[in-house]
Amino acid sequence: MSLAICPGSFDPITLGHLNIIRRTSRIFDRVVVLAMANASKSRPMFSISERVEMIRRVTACYGNVEVSTFDGLLAEYAKQYDDAVIVKGLRASTDFENEFQMAQINKMINPALETMFLTSSEKYTFLSSSMVRELAGYGADLSEFVPREIIDEVLARAQGGKCNG
Ligand code: PNS
Repeated sequence: MSLAICPGSFDPITLGHLNIIRRTSRIFDRVVVLAMANASKSRPMFSISERVEMIRRVTACYGNVEVSTFDGLLAEYAKQYDDAVIVKGLRASTDFENEFQMAQINKMINPALETMFLTSSEKYTFLSSSMVRELAGYGADLSEFVPREIIDEVLARAQGGKCNG
């Protein structure tokens, strides 16, 4: 059974993330979406458990997608599976350097671990969670950017709500 791990900080999950998850779920038998901390990103909008809950809600319709979290190195997490592949979306050349570096380091820690990239859908090439957080701070219409199930929470949090945990 083929297994893909789609890791990310998902703070919050965007339609771009969801597009990659959906396409990955068509290629692999099983997909684990893994919400993780990104050390280079401080002051999260949502706690990890809130992000997991939101991702679960918006991926509930995909039968082979599950959501988890891990408070450690991605390459160590993947060691529990024999043949897991990391799948990430690549938006533009700006993503490449960082993603290439992460893939190389992950492979050094776990030589069996391969990383594959799906090119982002043209529609979402510009889209990022940080852009969503900024737009939400201005109360902008988020319907083109995040799944409709989480729009209200993102706007509410950006308008001054506190991250629980
Ligand atoms: O969505 P992001 O922020 O680009 O995802 C980055 C993420 C969370 C996948 C990355 O920071 C990560 O793998 N974090 C877990 C800790 C880890 O393994 N760090 C080493 C990366 S080389």
